[in-house]
Amino acid sequence: MTTTDDRTTTAAVRHGNVRFPTGFLWGAATAAYQIEGAVAADGRSPSIWDEFSRVPGAVVGGDVADVACDHYHRMPQDVELMASLNLGAYRFSAAWPRVRPDAGAPNQAGIDFYARLVDRLLDAGITPWATLYHWDLPQAVEDAGGWTNRDTAYRFADYAFTLYDALGERVPYWTTMNEPWCSAFLGYTGGQHAPGRQEGVAGVVAAHHLMLGHGLVVDELRRRGTDAELGITLNLTVAEPFDPSEPADVDAALRVDHLWNRMFLDPVLRGSYADELHTITAGMTWQGKAWEEFVRDGDLALISTPIDVLGVNYYHGDGASGRPHAPDQLLGSRVEHPTRPTTSMFPGGDDLTFPRRGYPVTGLDWEVQPEGLTRLLLRLREEYDAPPMYITENGAAYDDRVRPDGSVHDPDRWDYIAAHLRAVHAAMAAGVDVRGYFVWSLLDNFEWAYGYGQRFGIVHVDYETQRRTPKTSALRYAEVAATSALPP
Ligand code: NOJ
Repeated sequence: MTTTDDRTTTAAVRHGNVRFPTGFLWGAATAAYQIEGAVAADGRSPSIWDEFSRVPGAVVGGDVADVACDHYHRMPQDVELMASLNLGAYRFSAAWPRVRPDAGAPNQAGIDFYARLVDRLLDAGITPWATLYHWDLPQAVEDAGGWTNRDTAYRFADYAFTLYDALGERVPYWTTMNEPWCSAFLGYTGGQHAPGRQEGVAGVVAAHHLMLGHGLVVDELRRRGTDAELGITLNLTVAEPFDPSEPADVDAALRVDHLWNRMFLDPVLRGSYADELHTITAGMTWQGKAWEEFVRDGDLALISTPIDVLGVNYYHGDGASGRPHAPDQLLGSRVEHPTRPTTSMFPGGDDLTFPRRGYPVTGLDWEVQPEGLTRLLLRLREEYDAPPMYITENGAAYDDRVRPDGSVHDPDRWDYIAAHLRAVHAAMAAGVDVRGYFVWSLLDNFEWAYGYGQRFGIVHVDYETQRRTPKTSALRYAEVAATSALPP
């Protein structure tokens, strides 16, 4: 039953002033490979993205991240920029190839960069949040099989402990993996991302090993009695049938939910893989084996070692169909890569399509569906009894125009962010424990296979001059971060 209180809250959430609780963490996120540049500095070894971005057609425009935002050399100024935007927290990732080049011995110069970053953040009163793996696997590890090789999980753990030994006492939040779905399925099934392999159900094998790496790290840090909050960041979606009256679409949504959300949620939060996942992938093999043959006794116990926080990255929902639709009715970037022939990112998913549903779309053709975030958060609480959650990424790419005076007015981005903040608030009003929000991204940066053409920053980057200019969205976000309130 809807009460007057509910109606008042809902109206306030949609239109009015919404206030977040004291202590709610307001942050921005980035990732090493997307901003640092300096790919050959101080002993860093090549990563899979250095290699993949040089494959013709792999990245739009042939863009590479050798310089990116040159953050490696401009870090002190970038921290000042964060402070000027009232950020309470900064989520960054460390580059495995800087910390343990070629997955070999620790590299002090690489470790020192992150130590300096953390010192600067703490001096500026900004809480550091470290992500251990944001997709830049050392190429040498890929050459040994990458995430389809079980050993990679153990090499990842070695690297993680090296960084934790150096920074553990000063960094209160640690994310093991960022969006393992992308690493696994864009990397090993669809080939849209590095290493660009298109090997069907190998994506599930890779996903299992990524989660094993997560579990090894959480389990060991627990044994060491860490005070840090440990978690994993998943990119989650709300999968709905495009047409609920079409059985093929209902089945498509179920498959997307399993191969996207539940593939990770179930092992991490329930210690099991869903029966339906086994059914969906039945008969698929990689190197002559079903993916289940790669799961060993004890793996799921490790993977489900309790976490303190769940990181949720939400950008869009998904209206899935199991039927063909006219090409001009499909959301382009949901299934294809603009310049490289790819296969479906869902094992056995060649029939899956994502037709337009009439929602507005961002520059990447991603549907803007903020109420999906409310539903997702409610689901995580109700079905998974999720630990405290943080929105570790949310944001949008738009075709920003720089005005003659250098300023960038980006009302679409601000509308997107504000609508999603209201969606988070609505979930909190319904009792979901969400403790912070990180906008993606602090800076325009190297948007993986889309290169520099897609800009997600609240701060504009002129890649010629490396000049940073806060967009209107950054100024609005700074006000929200200072007041913990979102004006009407
Ligand atoms: C999620 C990823 O973590 C990040 O690296 C990427 O840039 C954004 N999504 C936007 O695609």
